[in-house]
Amino acid sequence: MPKRRSKRAARRAVVTPAKPSREQHIRVRVNGVDHESDVESRMLLVHYLREVLGLTGTHEGCDTSNCGACTILYNGRSVKSCTMFAAQANGGDIVTIEGLTKDGQLHPIQRAFWDNHGLQCGFCTPGMIMQSYWLLKENPKPTDEQIRWGISGNLCRCTGYQNIVKSIKAAARELR
Ligand code: FES
Ligand code: FES
Repeated sequence: MPKRRSKRAARRAVVTPAKPSREQHIRVRVNGVDHESDVESRMLLVHYLREVLGLTGTHEGCDTSNCGACTILYNGRSVKSCTMFAAQANGGDIVTIEGLTKDGQLHPIQRAFWDNHGLQCGFCTPGMIMQSYWLLKENPKPTDEQIRWGISGNLCRCTGYQNIVKSIKAAARELR
């Protein structure tokens, strides 16, 4: 006669390990450095940057493409890195906030945010700066309205945006 299992044992018995998803081999260039990795097909690019490469300057606020905290440059275009799988980035050239600083010197946009109090808690700031970088590359002399439109996909819960716009204008002057 088989022994009856206790309720606790029965509960344990139904817990099965998750099936590993398929891995893919990717090659990416990040901030000028080549990386090769095996990644799960479902891994988001933001998670690859933060958890595999340790580039935690790219923030993760919502995972649903709303907040813009995860904005990076992918092949020269600003992209919310939670909207891409790491596997989709294969072969790409990525720049994160860490890649803007050269020889320990802040990029002019970073400096402008610092000088003009373009941040408070700083959570949105890496994404805001990467978006500003792309905006100023596309339009070196934006109006206030164009700046506000350009950063409309990036949310800030602290500043009220006034000083962010001021920072981007100051950076634009510096970069021209
Ligand atoms: S974490 Fe990507 S948009 Fe919010
Ligand atoms: S500075 Fe806090 S969210 Fe923008």
